[in-house]
Amino acid sequence: MTRTLTLDGRADAELRTAIDIIVRGGIIGVPTETVYGLAADAGNEDALRKIFAAKGRPESHPLILHVADVDSARRVANPWPHAAEVLARAFWPGPLTLLVNRSSEISKVVTGGRDTVAVRVPSHAVFARLLAGLAERGCVGLAAPSANKFGSVSPTSARHVLADLDGLIDAVLDGGECSVGVESTIVDCTLAVPRLLRPGGVAAESVRAALVAEGFGFDDGSDVGHTEAIAPGMLPSHYAPRARVETFADIAELADRRDQLVRQAVNVEILPHPEDLYEYSKRLYASLRECDARGANVILALLPPEEGLGRAIRDRLTKAAADR
Ligand code: TXA
Ligand code: MG
Repeated sequence: MTRTLTLDGRADAELRTAIDIIVRGGIIGVPTETVYGLAADAGNEDALRKIFAAKGRPESHPLILHVADVDSARRVANPWPHAAEVLARAFWPGPLTLLVNRSSEISKVVTGGRDTVAVRVPSHAVFARLLAGLAERGCVGLAAPSANKFGSVSPTSARHVLADLDGLIDAVLDGGECSVGVESTIVDCTLAVPRLLRPGGVAAESVRAALVAEGFGFDDGSDVGHTEAIAPGMLPSHYAPRARVETFADIAELADRRDQLVRQAVNVEILPHPEDLYEYSKRLYASLRECDARGANVILALLPPEEGLGRAIRDRLTKAAADR
């Protein structure tokens, strides 16, 4: 059992402690603009293996590699496709992950044995300073999945990280509440027509616009209707709270269902569903956790329209509602 330190990401001395822990092969919870990640030095295979053990995640599920800038991303790819360059320039730093073929320097422990690597440049100020400090110590990047137990709700605060992983990780670096609240959008840039693997913090419409402006097509998965088969780790049941989740496209149907459950004396909660999709996504995971904490048996969720961030919110709610 490890004692998990809580470090203040805005205090220089505590940020240096976080850097020391990573350089020595430890694993720590780190803030990004999307969700908190569970990070290790991407060049240290022993440290990487600790991530899978702490999360209870199969080692075949690849991790996202987080780097400081586009130059660093180019170095982990072979080749670096033109579509990746277009998207990196348009959306980095920010909630977009690009799938490219990996260069031989990148460990297969990061990529779950694959020849591709998922790479992104986060925009969170604390994360950027962490990466800058690590670069001075010779670390190329941080591999990090979301800092939750495998299959459960992603963390959007340091407190959420501790709720899942206290005693299992060396530290959590507190950078406040995540501003985006859902994971990054993942785009496969190894194909002639780039393809959406996971909807997330950058709207698919924006990705399409950036690609089309440079003469590329974009496959947003709407033809197949699902992306689970493509992105490993994107299981149908994922992001799930303890309570059962039921989703509704219509508020009147949701209200009827609530009345029915109340009559049956079921402990039911309605997930807050702000009309502003930025607010909805920012609070989504915290709200699911709060419903659980209040002892809900059933959570009723209103699906937002399938546009902009609504697409990522619908994806996460649908997965939270899937049979387990
Ligand atoms: O916003 C985010 O992306 C957050 C923060 C921490 O950066 N990270 C995150 O990581 O959501 P995780 O592990 O929960 O999800 C990463 C997903 C994997 O489940 C998989 O679907 C995809 O990224 N992925 C990573 N590497 C891949 C690869 N080589 N090939 C295909 N998919 C990959
Ligand atoms: Mg995750």
